[in-house]
This record gives sequence, C-alpha cells and structure tokens, in this order.
Amino acid sequence: MGLLLPLVLCALAVGSGATSPPLPVFNPSPLLSRGCNDSDVLSFANFALGDINRDRKDGYVLSLNRVSDVREHRQDGPAALYYLTLDVIETDCHVLSRKSWKDCKGRALFHSVYGQCKALFYMHKTARILHTLSYNCTLRPVSKRSILRTCPDCPVLGGSVSRDFSDPSVLETATESLAKYNSESTSKQYSLVKITMVSRQWVGGPSYSVEYLIKEAPCTKSQASSCTHQSPDSEAVGLCKGSLIKSSRVKPVSVTCDFFKSQAPTPGGENSAVNLGPVQLPKVEDSQQKKSAPTDAPATAVPKGSVQYLPDLGDEKPQGSQESVPVEAFPVHLDLTRNPQGEPVDISFLFMGPEKETVLVLPFPSKEQRSAECPGPAQEDNPLLLPP
Ligand SMILES: *[C@@H]1O[C@H](CO)[C@@H](O)[C@H](O)[C@H]1NC(C)=O
Ligand SMILES: *[C@@H]1O[C@H](CO)[C@@H](O)[C@H](O)[C@H]1NC(C)=O
Repeated sequence: MGLLLPLVLCALAVGSGATSPPLPVFNPSPLLSRGCNDSDVLSFANFALGDINRDRKDGYVLSLNRVSDVREHRQDGPAALYYLTLDVIETDCHVLSRKSWKDCKGRALFHSVYGQCKALFYMHKTARILHTLSYNCTLRPVSKRSILRTCPDCPVLGGSVSRDFSDPSVLETATESLAKYNSESTSKQYSLVKITMVSRQWVGGPSYSVEYLIKEAPCTKSQASSCTHQSPDSEAVGLCKGSLIKSSRVKPVSVTCDFFKSQAPTPGGENSAVNLGPVQLPKVEDSQQKKSAPTDAPATAVPKGSVQYLPDLGDEKPQGSQESVPVEAFPVHLDLTRNPQGEPVDISFLFMGPEKETVLVLPFPSKEQRSAECPGPAQEDNPLLLPP
C-alpha cells in the first residue's frame, strides 16, 4: 500500500493534467539528456578539453577525470550543440608544451589541482566540424585539511601547493636551481620567465619545490657576463623543476628541465599533421585535430574562455570566521545568453560557404537538471579530487 499510493497519485496527476484547459503554449526544454559514459559524448569531451588546453597560455594541461553532465541540443541539419560539464585534474605538463593530456602524468594527490570546466561544443556531421565555441573552468588545489581528515597518518608534513609566489625563498629556489642547471650546461644558458607552481614542505627544515618556465638567454656560457639584457619577447622553451632545502648548511639544490618539442617551427607548420579523414564521429582522438575541420584559417575559430584559480577549499574558511562554506564550491559560469528562448550565435566562420550559419545557444542548464546517466565513471575516483 505504501508503494501503491504514490503511483495512484501520479496517475491522478497525469489524468487531471490531460483534462485541464490548455495552458499558454509552453515549450519543453529542447535539451536532451545524454549518458555521460556514451562513447560519442566521451570523444566530444576529449575534443573539447583538447581545444581548451590548446587555447591556454598559462597553467598546466588539464586531463579529463569524468564527464559530470552533458545535454544535447539538436540544431537544424545534422548538427548539435553540447553543453558539457567536465571534471578535470591538472597534469604535470605545462600548456606551452602543447602535449595531449593523455601523454602527461598526474600529480601526487597532495600536489593535485582539480576542478570543473563547462564548454559549449558544436558538432556538424556532414560538414565535419567539431568546435568548442566557448569554455570556462574553475580550479582549486586539493584541500589539505580534507586529506588530513581522511588520512591522518599521511606524511603531508605541512606541505602545500599554491600559486602564491611572493615568499622570497620561492624566487631563491628558482634562481639557485637554474644557476645550477646553467653551470652544468655546456653552452646554452637559460633565464627565468616565470614561476608556475610552488610547494612547501618540512624536510628537517623548510623545503621548497618550484616549477618555472625558462627561455634561452641570448648568449652562451663564455659570454655569461653580458647576459643581463634579454630580448623581452623570446618565448618560453621549457619547464624546470627545482628544489631547495634551507635548513642544512649545504642547502642541497636539485633541478631538472624538460624542453618543449613544439618550439622550433617546422616547415609546413602546425597544419602538417591534420588530416582528419572522414569524421565518423565517435572515434576522434584528442590531439591536433581541431584544425581538421574545413576551417583551417580563421583566427576567430579559437574558443573563448578562461580558467580561474581559487584557493584550497579548506583555506577558504579560516577558523572562527563567520563566513559559510561557499554555496557552490566550483563556480563556473558560461552564459552566452540569459534569454530562456536562446539566442542565435553566428558561426559562419566555421563553414566554407558564403551563407550565414548560426547556432541557437540557450542558457547553460543547471546542475539540478542533470541527466540521469551522469556523472560518468571517473578515472580518478578519489572524492578529494571530485568537485561536489
Ligand atoms: C567566464 O568566467 C568569467 C569569470 O571567471 C566571467 O567573467 C565570464 O563572463 C564567463 N564567461 C561566460 C561566457 O559566461
Ligand atoms: C562505460 O562504458 C564502457 C565502454 O562502453 C563500459 O565498459 C563501462 O562498464 C561503462 N561504465 C559505466 C560505469 O557505466
């Protein structure tokens, strides 16, 4: 009986709905639910994340942990717009390395940075277009307090990862470790572009690990004294990891550097490896294929978006503060429109022909309307690395 009653009420509700006077025309949402583990959805998510990583100039390559939500909006013709919500984790490759996230390693849990991205992804089957219109992401370092709470014995030793580079010891670690690298280099010398990551730990004394971008200094070792003036616009050529332990009298310094392969522009340029072949959709790998669409040229084809970094969730609420935990732990806004009926966005630049092509964009669907088959399975299912 306990079970029957709701069914009866349900039937009544449906029945009465059918006989009530017609309401003013109400458009049900045109957004279709899709499964977050569907193979085509996963390949669109990979593709969108590849676009996001390629678009960025700063930070580390993001890897896909899971598809958190997906909604499909069929457009005129064999096209659709996908509203993707992706849970992501930073890898240890800098975005300037232009590596695919599948070729990058994750970081140790304690040095992890994770978060969520929203992306609008457009797919046109016959015109063979896969394009990320827009994205936004929010990232935070893993909460140190939560790690200690779930794993009190973890040897975290008061370390923390951050983007706060103001401590003079951070710069000291970078310059001393780079000096060591340069002193071991037989010819080329490098100078610091900027620090990209720092972690602090206690190893019998304060210990600093930093990561930083380097560029070639315009002189070799033999000219070292005249190396102070660098051409300001030379590009970063690699990422170094250096560390320094401050307590001991010898101050051990260590350094390793990885050079970005893509730096030397090859004849034929970026477009040499971009034959997508017939896009039989799902099997699209995340790599250099954005340009595969018949859209080689237009500069306007790059997605628009940004990645914001917020502090560790555990740090956000200092002890005794009145402030409550943020309502939304990973706020990510991607609203090209607030009009519930949607707005057409011009995407003619994606097509070869002279016609004006548009896509109807709706407000980004809210989390409450999540598809039933979402989120999908996570690569890394540690709850400390999953946005709530
Ligand atoms: C993306 O996020 C930034 C803030 O991080 C916001 O200013 C911007 O409006 C967002 N973009 C869209 C399209 O909503
Ligand atoms: C996701 O899809 C793969 C391949 O289709 C399947 O092997 C796996 O069991 C699915 N996982 C879940 C949680 O549904």
